[in-house]
Amino acid sequence: MVDEDITIESRLAEQEYFSPPEEFVEQANMADPAVYDRFDEFPEGFEEYAEMLDWDEQWDEVLDDSNPPFYEWFVGGKLNASHNCIDRHLDERKNQTALLWEGEDGEQRNVSYQDLYREVNAMAAALRSMGVEEDDVVTIHLPMVPALPITMLACARIGAPHSVVFAGFSASALANRVDSADSDHVVTIDGYYRRGDFLDHIEKADEAMAAVDGDPEVLAWTRHDEPQVDVSDDYTMVADLLDDHHGETVEPVSRDAEDPLFLMYTSGTTGEPKGCQHRTGGYLAYATGTSKYVEDIKPEDTYWCMADIGWITGHSYIVYGPLALGTTTVMYEGTPDYPHKGRTWDIAEKYDVDIFHTSPTAVRQFMKWGEEELEGYDFDFRHMTTVGEPIQPEAWLWYYKHIGGEDAAIVDTWWQTENGGHLITNLPAIQDMKPGSAGRPAPGIEPAILDDEGNEIGAEAGEAGNLAITRPWPGMLQTVYGNDERFIAEYWERFSDTDSDDSEDWVYEAGDAAVKGTDGYYRILGRLDDVMNVAGHRLGTMELESAVAEVDDVAEAAVAARDDAEKGEVPDVYVTVREGVEESEAVRERIVGAVEDGIGKFARPANVLFVDDLPKTRSGKIMRRLLEDISNDDELGNTSTLADPSVPEEIRDQLRAD
Ligand code: WTA
Repeated sequence: MVDEDITIESRLAEQEYFSPPEEFVEQANMADPAVYDRFDEFPEGFEEYAEMLDWDEQWDEVLDDSNPPFYEWFVGGKLNASHNCIDRHLDERKNQTALLWEGEDGEQRNVSYQDLYREVNAMAAALRSMGVEEDDVVTIHLPMVPALPITMLACARIGAPHSVVFAGFSASALANRVDSADSDHVVTIDGYYRRGDFLDHIEKADEAMAAVDGDPEVLAWTRHDEPQVDVSDDYTMVADLLDDHHGETVEPVSRDAEDPLFLMYTSGTTGEPKGCQHRTGGYLAYATGTSKYVEDIKPEDTYWCMADIGWITGHSYIVYGPLALGTTTVMYEGTPDYPHKGRTWDIAEKYDVDIFHTSPTAVRQFMKWGEEELEGYDFDFRHMTTVGEPIQPEAWLWYYKHIGGEDAAIVDTWWQTENGGHLITNLPAIQDMKPGSAGRPAPGIEPAILDDEGNEIGAEAGEAGNLAITRPWPGMLQTVYGNDERFIAEYWERFSDTDSDDSEDWVYEAGDAAVKGTDGYYRILGRLDDVMNVAGHRLGTMELESAVAEVDDVAEAAVAARDDAEKGEVPDVYVTVREGVEESEAVRERIVGAVEDGIGKFARPANVLFVDDLPKTRSGKIMRRLLEDISNDDELGNTSTLADPSVPEEIRDQLRAD
């Protein structure tokens, strides 16, 4: 939480604009500036997105805002997400590829809409046969294989909210999410490929099942026809279930617009990860609408978003948005550098990808590998996206030139797990691109930059402040699963009058710092709270610290974000050890291991730094911001509130001496 001053300043030099190519504008799904006026008819403007879907029953009311912040969208409407992503396309394009999958080992699968229909129906029947009922949360711990979207859509078909846990998360992170969602069913797989190795994924399920409170049923897919590792007899093999239910059809359950479609756990400022609960109607409308207007997706396109479906980007912009629009969405199992650094371009060329969607981290990595790695590949993107963290102008320009060939439209899209879809981004045919700026608010979205007292900072001031959203939108989370108080505390309390039932008094706090330019473009500067962004993945410093504290040798730990040229930020762990414990390599390894076990390998600390004391306020609160200054070799911020103001300098001296 920001109880210290906002220390993030905007140091970026003003950048020049780039116009979208004319050929792009001519073919764009949305090139009419009047779209903004339509969406300013609030909330009716958002009906334009809802009308892109098939509804079983039309809504009576666009927005019920009588009980903020518990907004209801498209009230009275009924629909099914699986129908919208599959069935409704069958008449026109049943033999078109829906999922174009490439395994890391080179295996390929083209799953047509008809195939998807059959497989999702069989899986839906299989889930039902295992006792999954409407509104039961199914936890899915699957990597980037077709089984993942198939399972998600099967859940959606029977009205069972899914909770997808990123495959890279450890057994203990999985167990924690299974418990938190009271999930009686967990779907996993025997394993998958990572840099040429077959990773045993069942191990994580085994460990997680030993740790969970309940006794969930485990359903196991296999990456090949036969399991490659030992699978417990307690688990049910999906292949057997699919054999039993082959050819069955399951009527899509008509869901209320407000019925939850899924949970997505994400890091917050305090305690355990929170389950962001997303509604069916508003979410699907928002993901679909932004896929159409921002991503410019058309049914005949081949669209490739390199994110993992285990994160929100993959939910909205690999699965739900693209499939609702009836396009071909590419999924790749592995890493971009296996077996060589040209793998990404090889895939882009082979499938003739039209729209490419990735993160600044990936761009920086490509940049580091050099443009030579692109040589000899023939691909031509019409449209490119970045998401997940601020992109430095330098990286943007490289992306534009070397990957886009200077003739693609680029959007830098700012949003969060909680938001369901893009909130700040240009519409690519309407506004010019500006490197390093996410751009203008998406249609109907009303952001504001607030100072710490909640007063709006005008664009003329050019000052950074807290990014807030002052009006609800259909893609917003409904609540934190099972915890309305936390929902209010994390997102609303700070800038809202929580006693008011007038929605105008309720303001959503994003937790990011941003600055608004006089051109109306927003530049996002980064997180303000105790959440860091590692390679585009949100990690709570609290969660990392709790994992470190599991190590007996540790007395106290604090995690600070260190800027990293490639990953954006990496965690530095500052620890004090217990009396009698020697600060050794062995302790260091135990700490790294604890983070890998507690959260996952992707969260591995960059440095473990032993110190005598941590900087604390007189009330005992650790001031991570000062540790951040130390990690980044920055000038120390204000130390006057410290119980012992000499501590940060001592740490610095100590680290220099090491
Ligand atoms: C950051 C990912 C700058 C931001 C969709 C936000 C960005 C957090 C951008 C959410 C962007 C996301 N420019 N920063 N275009 N997009 N962020 O929940 O700090 O994984 O709060 O959602 O990522 O991360 P999350």
